[in-house]
Amino acid sequence: MPNAPSSAPIRLGNSVTIEVPVLLAPMAGVTDGVFRSLCREAGAGYATTEFARDEALLRGVRQQVDLTDLRLDARPVGVQIFGANPDVMRRAAGWVMATAAPDVLDINMGCPAPKVTNGQGGSSLLRDPDRAEAIVRAVVAEVSPAPTTVKIRVGWDDAHRDAGIAVEVARRAVDAGAQMITVHGRTRQQRYEGVACWDTIAAVAAAVPVPVIGNGDVQTPADAVHRLRTSGCAGVAIGRGARGRPWLFGQIAAALRGDPVPPDPELPARLALGLDHVRRQVAFEIACLEDDPANARKARATIEELADGRALGHLLPHVMWYVWGAPGANEARRVLSKARTAVELADILADYAAHPEAYHRRDDARVVPARA
Ligand SMILES: Cc1cc2nc3c(=O)[nH]c(=O)nc-3n(C[C@H](O)[C@H](O)[C@H](O)COP(=O)(O)O)c2cc1C
Repeated sequence: MPNAPSSAPIRLGNSVTIEVPVLLAPMAGVTDGVFRSLCREAGAGYATTEFARDEALLRGVRQQVDLTDLRLDARPVGVQIFGANPDVMRRAAGWVMATAAPDVLDINMGCPAPKVTNGQGGSSLLRDPDRAEAIVRAVVAEVSPAPTTVKIRVGWDDAHRDAGIAVEVARRAVDAGAQMITVHGRTRQQRYEGVACWDTIAAVAAAVPVPVIGNGDVQTPADAVHRLRTSGCAGVAIGRGARGRPWLFGQIAAALRGDPVPPDPELPARLALGLDHVRRQVAFEIACLEDDPANARKARATIEELADGRALGHLLPHVMWYVWGAPGANEARRVLSKARTAVELADILADYAAHPEAYHRRDDARVVPARA
């Protein structure tokens, strides 16, 4: 059927098949293992970790090493790394494959943060295609036969985008052995503002012989179907649209099958999901702490307390997103923001589920009446 959206599986080499071409885009501080697993269960076909710094992994920096923990992930899954030196990237990629054993190694060439681009990594590689190509070549040599993939932006700024840099970098990455390219349709100058340029994404999809994943501003099933139908991309990746809405992936999968799209869950189901998220995060932290020999002599109660503290930071943004837009959400968010433990977060979600009207009333009470 002409113009039918492609919902064909995406194949990377002989070893990796992404069954559903709707991916969770990596987001630092958001797409942790628990959230990835919730999105995969809801229907996302694939995910990568947020980016980890190459030399920090090689030095064993705990917080970066933890980013490569895949114990909760459905397969296939990728680990994303960033850096600017081909040899350091090669060694870090080797470390990741040996330690975390992902199915795919993904290279970040899109991060706009100065702390990344000042070191010539992330999106600044778009301004240095020789270096970008050398990094891909080095990583491919190290991780093959596992696939190497690359995530880019459409350019550094508008002029750079219009000069066709995304096509050039994508072609050179593929020449160097990359097996999939994800293109975020914004320039580095745009950061996360403005709209994604899908014309440039489509130009990359037309230019390279490997699957291209389009990314930027996909918020609804209709957006996903439209982009798959019109861009020539093999898949789409969703970032901010998935925050607090893992069910979006199930809705898109239904749309791609031609089935009726299930409605957004009502508040009780959203709060139940939030509670489930809290429990999973705490259970994950307990498992990580128990795995660490340094904690072998700690009492269970101590482990649980430590796990609660570690979970809280991960959970707060997620629970805020789950309640977003619901009646009473302003009051719920006010109370949630004061929680000092994950247990408190769970208690507040349960209370909101049991007495939504009380939150609604307190929301209304704070609306200052207009002057007569
Ligand atoms: C908070 C945040 C963190 C991000 N971290 C990463 C990252 O670690 N690696 C990466 O390749 N992209 C990262 N991105 C970019 C997203 O993967 C995606 O390209 C971008 O948000 C555009 O997609 P969207 O319009 O669907 O949000 C991040 C985006 C946000 C908002």
